[in-house]
Amino acid sequence: MEQGKTHFGFKEVDREQKAGLVKEIFSNVAGKYDLMNDLMSGGVHRIWKNKMVEELVDSWESIVDSQGKIKFIDVAGGTGDVAFRIARKMRAKSIKYEIDVVDINQEMLDVGKARAVDQNLFSGIKFTACDGEKLSFADETFDFFTIAFGIRNFTNIDKALSEAHRVLKKGGKFICLEFSQMNDYFLQKIYDAYSFKVIPKIGEVVLNDRASYQYLVESIRKFPPQNEFKRMIEIAGFNNAAYKNLSFGAAAIHSGIK
Ligand SMILES: C[S@@+](CC[C@H](N)C(=O)[O-])C[C@H]1O[C@@H](n2cnc3c(N)ncnc32)[C@H](O)[C@@H]1O
Repeated sequence: MEQGKTHFGFKEVDREQKAGLVKEIFSNVAGKYDLMNDLMSGGVHRIWKNKMVEELVDSWESIVDSQGKIKFIDVAGGTGDVAFRIARKMRAKSIKYEIDVVDINQEMLDVGKARAVDQNLFSGIKFTACDGEKLSFADETFDFFTIAFGIRNFTNIDKALSEAHRVLKKGGKFICLEFSQMNDYFLQKIYDAYSFKVIPKIGEVVLNDRASYQYLVESIRKFPPQNEFKRMIEIAGFNNAAYKNLSFGAAAIHSGIK
């Protein structure tokens, strides 16, 4: 790829252009984002997000700080889906928590705030508009850093990972849920056919917006495969980098410890 360029789905664009283009996509879809997730995935995104939260539960009981509280940051948190799952688990276990939901797109956060009020989960969750490549939080603030279906939209994935490392406390955990590469050739072909033929069509019918969902499926194909992304997590300074495939690798949960 030419210097100064990056990919936006299958297109090549100037690096400075990409964040604005991504912002536009999520502004277009914000109002129906959650409905679209259910329609496109047949609800499977819920199972994947629950798995991600289970990954946190395994480690959080040893992490409660001196004030008896766990601090989470959910970057590219959008309409709050992951944060709400964490909040419900924490409440069920009577553990105090603070969750900062960070997203570059104010419209997505506004939908999240309204959902938090509806679900009576507003206290303990803060919504902040901010670029995940340049977080407005001090070093070593959080026990957990989560990011779901967000990082593939970033222009500089390495910057996002290094910010994750910076804002985590020593011993804190990074967990990323993202679309990935399937480990079976034939399943991948079926999945590709579904992704490229059906998903943009659903976008067209429900939102009159085929282009945003065409970008979505293309961006999935451009994201580095499991081992390559794991290596990027190690390069950012994390220990114990690992991943677990979900649904034969259609998605993967990567993790690392600071
Ligand atoms: C597919 S949505 C995921 C939302 C949520 N995490 C979920 O799983 O439902 C991707 C989100 O990434 C956000 N995003 C993209 N680039 C970003 C950046 N540089 N910094 C912060 N958020 C970003 C978008 O605005 C969008 O809300």
